[in-house]
Amino acid sequence: MKILVTGGAGYIGSHVVLELLDQGYEVVVLDDLSMGAKENVDDRAAFILGSILSRADNEIALKGVDAVIHMAAFKAAGESVENPEKYTRNNVDGTLTLLNTMVDLGIHKFVFSSSAAVYGEPQYLPIDEKHPVNPINPYGETKLKIEYQLEKEFISKGICFATLRYFNAAGYDINGRVRIPENEPNNLLPVVMEAANGSRNMIEIFGDDYETRDGTGVRDYIHVTDLAKAHILAVHYLRSHPSFTVNLGSDVGYSVTEILDTARKITEKPIPANISARRAGDPPKLVASSEKAKSLLGWKAEHSDLETLISTMWDIYRPAEALV
Ligand code: UD1
Repeated sequence: MKILVTGGAGYIGSHVVLELLDQGYEVVVLDDLSMGAKENVDDRAAFILGSILSRADNEIALKGVDAVIHMAAFKAAGESVENPEKYTRNNVDGTLTLLNTMVDLGIHKFVFSSSAAVYGEPQYLPIDEKHPVNPINPYGETKLKIEYQLEKEFISKGICFATLRYFNAAGYDINGRVRIPENEPNNLLPVVMEAANGSRNMIEIFGDDYETRDGTGVRDYIHVTDLAKAHILAVHYLRSHPSFTVNLGSDVGYSVTEILDTARKITEKPIPANISARRAGDPPKLVASSEKAKSLLGWKAEHSDLETLISTMWDIYRPAEALV
């Protein structure tokens, strides 16, 4: 089976490409390298430099493809508030161009990278797929818009989709094959790693007065290799089942303080931290229920304990002199 991975040079995409290749799939990557790194795309995959916004690029990339895993998107929630057009153009217009090209070429299997950002403020925990959707930033809105279009428009055009709502992706390939870290990250784990390796001075803890066990924000961190495996299961499932939507999380919550403590232990670095004000739009606690992914796909998180998450990241982020 030949799979197109859009955004396959990105942080999560490069891990999905590895997992597909390891399991014997033929892979083609379409990426504009606006965020990703070509070096992170395994040599066994064909690489096309291009954009999902270009019908011509999509046509070239889709040649001979059986299914599409669509991961090309911008994902910085904060930036999406400042520049919503950038998010609408790439995440919505680009995805619709890709989907319409697929329909015209008769390619019908589609795995979509969605996000827990579609839920917005949690009304109950853990969050299952029946939780109301109400995104609180344009990034989440772009993901929800595509979820709606898949249901409303593309099912009737023959598209069979898997919508995967990721919680907080973290960690790096267990075998260290993805080497280039993300550029200018905003998410907690890469920021902690940069503070550990000295490329930034410290981390800001966004609030320590939440109603959580130690006052800092709690999130559900899921290892990228676990996420990657779910994509392969989703492609497989779509061969003989209808469209579906599932959460992908570890179902365990860790606080910012717990992460910092574990990171200090693993890296043996002080990682200076400063308590600052809460970040706008941050709920105190977000934890998934991934029961549906378990029962439907037979998937479960296997590498998402805090030690594995942080040690696989430190393998990539630690300075060269620490490699003794
Ligand atoms: C963020 C996005 C979400 C997106 C996800 C993946 C927001 C509001 N949400 O999730 O839409 O799907 O990334 O890209 O931006 N924290 C600090 N200091 C930091 C960074 C984070 O204390 O420098 C805290 C946050 O307050 C939060 C936790 O760490 O409690 C995790 O933050 P982050 O990694 O940014 O992820 P989310 O905000 O959960």
